[in-house]
Amino acid sequence: MKCVDDFRLKFGTREYVPIIIGGMGVDISTADLSLEAARLGGIGHISDAMVPTVSDRRYDTKYVRDKLKLYKYNVANSDKSSVRFDLGLLAEATETHVRRTMERKRGDGLIFINCMEKLTMNSPRDTLRVRLRSAMDAGIEGITLAAGLHLGSFALIEDHPRFNDVKLGIIVSSLRALQLFLRKSARTNRLPDYVVVEGPLAGGHLGFGMDWAKYDLRTIVAEIAAWLRAEHLDIPLIAAGGVFTGSDAVSFLETDAAAVQVATRFTVAEECGLPADVQQHYFAASEEDIEVNTISPTGYPMRMLKSSPAIGDGIRPNCEAFGYLLDANGNCAYITAYNRELALHPQAKKLKVMDKTCLCTHMRNFECWTCGHYTYRLKDTTLRNPDGSYQILSAEHIFKDYQYSKDNKIALPTQA
Ligand SMILES: Cc1cc2nc3c(=O)[nH]c(=O)nc-3n(C[C@H](O)[C@H](O)[C@H](O)COP(=O)(O)O)c2cc1C
Repeated sequence: MKCVDDFRLKFGTREYVPIIIGGMGVDISTADLSLEAARLGGIGHISDAMVPTVSDRRYDTKYVRDKLKLYKYNVANSDKSSVRFDLGLLAEATETHVRRTMERKRGDGLIFINCMEKLTMNSPRDTLRVRLRSAMDAGIEGITLAAGLHLGSFALIEDHPRFNDVKLGIIVSSLRALQLFLRKSARTNRLPDYVVVEGPLAGGHLGFGMDWAKYDLRTIVAEIAAWLRAEHLDIPLIAAGGVFTGSDAVSFLETDAAAVQVATRFTVAEECGLPADVQQHYFAASEEDIEVNTISPTGYPMRMLKSSPAIGDGIRPNCEAFGYLLDANGNCAYITAYNRELALHPQAKKLKVMDKTCLCTHMRNFECWTCGHYTYRLKDTTLRNPDGSYQILSAEHIFKDYQYSKDNKIALPTQA
């Protein structure tokens, strides 16, 4: 019986352990977590979601405070169209985050950044362009284009000196999405270096509707692989979503996948950005505690723990400080939902907004507990502490379990 270590992901002449830790915004996949993946010979992701906010927490900058100061006059106004990001400061924040991470890199693996198109930031094209280019300027080794179709993203960077040097990948959940992307980016004469095929059991936003349960990762990977073969396109496929054990990974590596992208197992790693008390909720979750809902203002279904404080919370939209999901006209589905409830209950001390959430605020505060379908199995991956809590794992332990385990076994840690 084989283990993941019997396989390698190849980019040109370079080989990597075929384990990619997926991007988890907002700073759930921290620099520390990504650096561990790279040190161990695999690939780690940082995320470019809300980087100015992350930079304030990590590098003692003051982007959020300064932006709020600038737009304070608008806080009570439901029209957010005047709230803009300063592109120079956005570039600075991205460069800081990427450069500081790359400076600490050890080992033979790679550090990529997960870039979400749905962070439209009241100026979708300009802000995306700045985020992509400044990550490249700062030495990122790969960019995974996520959450959105990214039909014009390659064109935004095609004149960048590192366009052919940085690994570029895209996340898709269907053959159709991949075909559309390839058609639209054909003009740049640049194929993606890898394609992450993300199935319906993943964490974060899903590339499916609420009928996600009808779909199956293995079928989608096989369909895309067959089409690529027929088109004589040699692009490594990365299977993602519900790959919980080393044996799960091997079953994909033995067929059509060149690597797997995993995340849920790492949400309970020491190096993960989730606070320790939140990690205990992930461990303790049962299958009934997890749902896919539509409260994300992005319009994509999202999987999360039902106990997430973000669900139902009717806080005032925080766009003057954050505003990452404002569309090109300064709208966000949460603002609409909030204003509707405010009009219905003008005297209420605390509003409840059930259908949407202020995702920026709640992701910033780790109050939207997004998770993968198999989160309820995390308790089987560790031991209990004497006080009954679950023992947090090291990223190295989880990574090596994926790399070396066989027979669907999961290695438990040594008792702390
Ligand atoms: C907590 C959490 C947050 C996530 N956030 C993002 C994100 O910001 N962007 C993204 O493209 N994918 C995100 N994902 C998806 C992962 O990168 C990954 O592809 C997927 O979850 C892998 O499946 P698994 O969690 O079953 O291992 C997230 C997943 C989790 C568990």
